[in-house]
Amino acid sequence: MPPLPNNKLLIRGGHLLDPAQNLDGSYDLLLAEGRVAEVAPAGKLDQVEAEIFDARGMIVAPGFIDIHVHLREPGQFYKETIASGTMAAAAGGFTSVCAMPNTVPVNDSPAITRWMQDPERGAQVNVFPIAAATLGSLGEQLTDYAALVRAGAVAVTDDGKPILRDEIMETALKAAVRLEIPVVQHAEDTRMTTAASMNSGPSAFRLGLRGWPPEAESSIVRRDIELTAKTGAHLHVAHLSAAESLNAVRDAKSEGLRVTCEVTPHHFALVDEDVTDYNTNFKMNPPLRSRHDREALLAGLADGIIDCIATDHAPHARHEKNAEFDRAPFGITGLETALGLAISILHEKNKLPLKRIIELLTTNPARVMGLAGRGTLAPGSHADVTVFDPAREWTYRAADSHSKSKNSPFDAWRMQGRIAATIVAGNIIFRDEPPRTQNTQR
Ligand code: DOR
Ligand code: ZN
Repeated sequence: MPPLPNNKLLIRGGHLLDPAQNLDGSYDLLLAEGRVAEVAPAGKLDQVEAEIFDARGMIVAPGFIDIHVHLREPGQFYKETIASGTMAAAAGGFTSVCAMPNTVPVNDSPAITRWMQDPERGAQVNVFPIAAATLGSLGEQLTDYAALVRAGAVAVTDDGKPILRDEIMETALKAAVRLEIPVVQHAEDTRMTTAASMNSGPSAFRLGLRGWPPEAESSIVRRDIELTAKTGAHLHVAHLSAAESLNAVRDAKSEGLRVTCEVTPHHFALVDEDVTDYNTNFKMNPPLRSRHDREALLAGLADGIIDCIATDHAPHARHEKNAEFDRAPFGITGLETALGLAISILHEKNKLPLKRIIELLTTNPARVMGLAGRGTLAPGSHADVTVFDPAREWTYRAADSHSKSKNSPFDAWRMQGRIAATIVAGNIIFRDEPPRTQNTQR
């Protein structure tokens, strides 16, 4: 990345939206030396000597933060690498991602946690590892949370698998509360999901596939909430998909418990009825749920109960997905379609204000993962910025993805809302169009 003139970038003429500062209007934004230097009413910074980014007609938001991403390194570079996954993140407007530990080997050690953050990996955006909660994510023996946090882990999880045993989950919460990190639970009672590959209901019945009941999720969410009440810890529910789980989170929040949750774009965009022809790009864990569940998620996204949108970007190679539905691996890519789905479905169809969508992608994920100085454009914070055109329509082509894997159910979908630029530490690392900047020395 060539150094910027004077190391300053002025993002001019855009509509700035920063829920953390309650800013929603025409402001110019000056970035200098990797930090936000100034936010000023439009035109006020015109005399500053800086590279100019023309953001007219655009929304200027804090850099998006995706707290649930599978980067597949170490060990599965044929699916994704930290370099390719973070390039896809940048193309999707994400300036920070939290990297899940179900790598090969599992990230249950400070050494792997550090390895993932080594500049040698070629990350294009900030990578915050979430380390395994138990050794090998086997659910038996806790990892060394203090050492993992010292190595840079921001949370613990056994994602892909639940922490099933009550006493292990309780000790995990007790260890995490001392370090002020969340335990991220993949809520799935695997005793109810053996051999299941999609949501239980008429669609599974028609396709002849073993059904996966929503109670497999909500029962673990309720159990975890009880343990959270007992321990005072912070529980974060990953990829929440069922109406009943959301009711549990709503109850927990009303009791003042530290319980947060995330929802994926695919769970607010699709339902089990969309699994029509055994297309394995519609297979993920948790599965696409019923219309009723989706309606509940849309309500929770509108009313504030859901904290974050997180993609659960889960790349798999073509030869792996090219298998019978019940044998194919769970997971779909998601980094490059998140904003388009959020704008098209949440904003356009369901009338969620853009400000709420930004909160779900920035302010709240930063708070959930304790990422200080991120998720806001307040002066002094990191110069991570996402600029997008909320009106622009485009067609997603999985084949053009920056990810190494193309396993998306949204191939050829028409979307509204397109990333114009992704800026990390003051550097434009992704830009949609040919240079919009006038490199002015005024
Ligand atoms: O669909 C999923 N894929 N859900 C998970 O929990 C794990 C992930 C993966 O690693 O592929
Ligand atoms: Zn996951």
